[in-house]
Amino acid sequence: MTMIALLAGDGIGPEVVAAARRVLDVVAPDLTYEEGLVGGAAYRAQGHPLPPETLDLAHRADAILFGAVGDPAFDALERAMRPEQAILGLRKSLKLFANLRPARLFQGLEDASALKPEIARRIDLVIVRELVGDVYFGDKGRGFTSTGLREGHDLMRYDEVEVARIARVGFETARTRQRRLLSVDKANVLETSQLWRDVVNEVARDYPDVALSHMYVDNAAMQLVRDPGQFDTIVTGNLFGDILSDQASMCAGSIGMLPSAALNHESKGLYEPIHGSAPDIAGQGKANPCATILSAAMMLRHSLDRPDAADRIEAAVAATIAGGARTADLGGNLSTDAMTQGVLATLETAAG
Ligand code: NAD
Ligand code: IPM
Ligand code: MN
Repeated sequence: MTMIALLAGDGIGPEVVAAARRVLDVVAPDLTYEEGLVGGAAYRAQGHPLPPETLDLAHRADAILFGAVGDPAFDALERAMRPEQAILGLRKSLKLFANLRPARLFQGLEDASALKPEIARRIDLVIVRELVGDVYFGDKGRGFTSTGLREGHDLMRYDEVEVARIARVGFETARTRQRRLLSVDKANVLETSQLWRDVVNEVARDYPDVALSHMYVDNAAMQLVRDPGQFDTIVTGNLFGDILSDQASMCAGSIGMLPSAALNHESKGLYEPIHGSAPDIAGQGKANPCATILSAAMMLRHSLDRPDAADRIEAAVAATIAGGARTADLGGNLSTDAMTQGVLATLETAAG
């Protein structure tokens, strides 16, 4: 029996996870589910954003489908108790070091992209983001300078093993695509990045069939909106990958379209949209469920070895979008429910 941990979380999290569950029930009806509290919802109920039962559930499950965490009501809490610590804690505890964030333009979404249609049409890339290191997990703290000014710090650090293992995922991912890997860093300024670049170059010796290049992150941000079609596979650190993937989403039409997979060495995965809890539209039935539905497809492919079911979901989303279905973020007026119905109806038509 295959058991999925459903961690819906906060804001639009429960809305988009419910949508993905309905789609999964059609393409993989035998899956079983256990729901867990996470983020602000867990803090409210149990006084902790990542209660031990939820962590245990995540470890027991075959895969995790995650919504989003974050609630402005808790932004003033001490950091350890904030909703966002739940997703960071899950990534760390499950050693989910490799985050795949594909961005491509679904046919018909040229109008929704922030780019000109002929430029937008070319985007088809994947960001391989390191997920358990960098400035996210380095030593952090607050204090005072010698002159009594308030001070804050976050240590940016990587060791060579951490860089080498994500570099390998980058090269392996490039091998499944156009065999072009771009490593994005800030080696002109940061020592962490110089180590990153050195190690990526060393790992490259094992992948002579992949064309490796390097780019500074500021230039990469510019190139991403100038011509995203130039990119195939991008490997980068935790912070740069976070920022570049939100940016890539608007090239592809909307942050409501981008799924992600967070993987470790044991094929255990956590699957989530790249977006957050969207407090501004939560509870209104406006959220685009596609990013989460497509994350469920990634789950079927990467953790459950069901590529056919993954293909069916992706084809159904593509056809639904091509047929003109649009939530508000895509310039339309469909509700979360209506968009989900559209995908379900397309699945049924394809099956019949
Ligand atoms: P956000 O991604 O939640 O929202 C940014 C903007 O995009 C908002 O205007 C929102 O309405 C819109 N948006 C996001 N997802 C959408 C969807 N599916 N359909 C339509 N519109 C969508 O980012 P934010 O506002 O910076 O953060 C809100 C909260 O979410 C914060 O607490 C943040 O820490 C958290 N967050 C959590 C995750 C996660 O759980 N992995 C990711 C990002 C942000
Ligand atoms: C994401 C989010 C998270 C991150 C936050 C909520 C910790 O922005 O998943 O992209 O920065 O990784
Ligand atoms: Mn993010």
